[in-house]
Amino acid sequence: MKKILAMVMAVVMVLSLAACAGNGDKKDDGKKTVGISMPTKSLERWNRDGSYLKEEFEKAGYNVELTYSDNNVTQQNNDIDNLVAKEVDLLIVAAIDGEALTQTLKNAKENGIPVIAYDRLIMNTNAISYYVSFDNYSVGKLQGEYIEKALDLKNAGSNVYNIEFTAGDPADNNARFFFNGAFDVLKPYIDAGTLKVVSGQTEFEKVATAQWNTDKALDRMENLLASYYSNGTVLHAVVCSNDSTAMGVSQAISSSYHGGNVPFITGQDGDVANLRNIVDGKQSMTVYKNVAHEAVVTLALSKDILDGKKPAAELAESQEIECTYDVESYNNGTGIIPSYLLVPSVVTKDNLQDLVETGLYAWEGDYLVSTAK
Ligand code: GAL
Repeated sequence: MKKILAMVMAVVMVLSLAACAGNGDKKDDGKKTVGISMPTKSLERWNRDGSYLKEEFEKAGYNVELTYSDNNVTQQNNDIDNLVAKEVDLLIVAAIDGEALTQTLKNAKENGIPVIAYDRLIMNTNAISYYVSFDNYSVGKLQGEYIEKALDLKNAGSNVYNIEFTAGDPADNNARFFFNGAFDVLKPYIDAGTLKVVSGQTEFEKVATAQWNTDKALDRMENLLASYYSNGTVLHAVVCSNDSTAMGVSQAISSSYHGGNVPFITGQDGDVANLRNIVDGKQSMTVYKNVAHEAVVTLALSKDILDGKKPAAELAESQEIECTYDVESYNNGTGIIPSYLLVPSVVTKDNLQDLVETGLYAWEGDYLVSTAK
């Protein structure tokens, strides 16, 4: 009897020790857990990304821990630390500030947790295994080409068109790619005098918008309008790197521009308020990056990593959607990060139906609404 009791005690001790191992509250259901760290709910796209990724990973049989960090760098570091403490098996991180996660991700690496940089590259850390995004330079290029076509710059003759630029958050590694992509298309026309940046602000640092904030873009545009366009000077186009900044610019145009025309305004993301502006003629286009595509590739990549494989070009080739494996473009300061890059597309009022076909939007009267949960 004593022997049996001792054995039972030993088993109980082993079991409770096992339960105590690690301070995480990891579920003991045999499933692997994926930690997803998103930057903020205040920018619409990250809500779509977060909920869609969660849904897809859960459907594929993983547990998901999803966090949003309110665009606050300290909070994102804490959120990731918590995911590490919970012993997630893989981290997917869209950084608020690409330069601010080095220590935290070192900790993840020391705990053997692989990290995928999602959409935005994370700098100065060798903890990143892969980067999944869209071809960010192409996003800007599509915006520049849209303006080139809309103003028919190739056939401008002696016409001169006035233009301004609004870029994204300097803390976001993507922002310069977007700006450069657009600027490189338009620069020859600026050099030739066909395009005139009336404010003279053509440097990324000058036109950037901290945290992609709508109000900051609005304030800057109002200042430009008051300083350079209040005498009736016509503004023909504004290149905006994304929809949240385009929203601020459109609001400034509505309230404070008196040139008599609506300038061409670019955007990115397909945010529903901006799609509404596109229908209403207040914004010209948005560059659309299908979240479902980004999620599909992220899921396939995660599966391979979690199965101990070392995915490379063949993963891109095996996708049904167009995807490039790039081992040249994205150096995060510690070396090249192998990247899976998807293809963005242009949405105007003429092809809004394409968005409905993604399953992520639906018509509500004349406008589109999001179907993401
Ligand atoms: C970028 C992202 C864009 C846009 C922006 C603002 O990094 O690629 O799609 O949403 O951030 O959040």
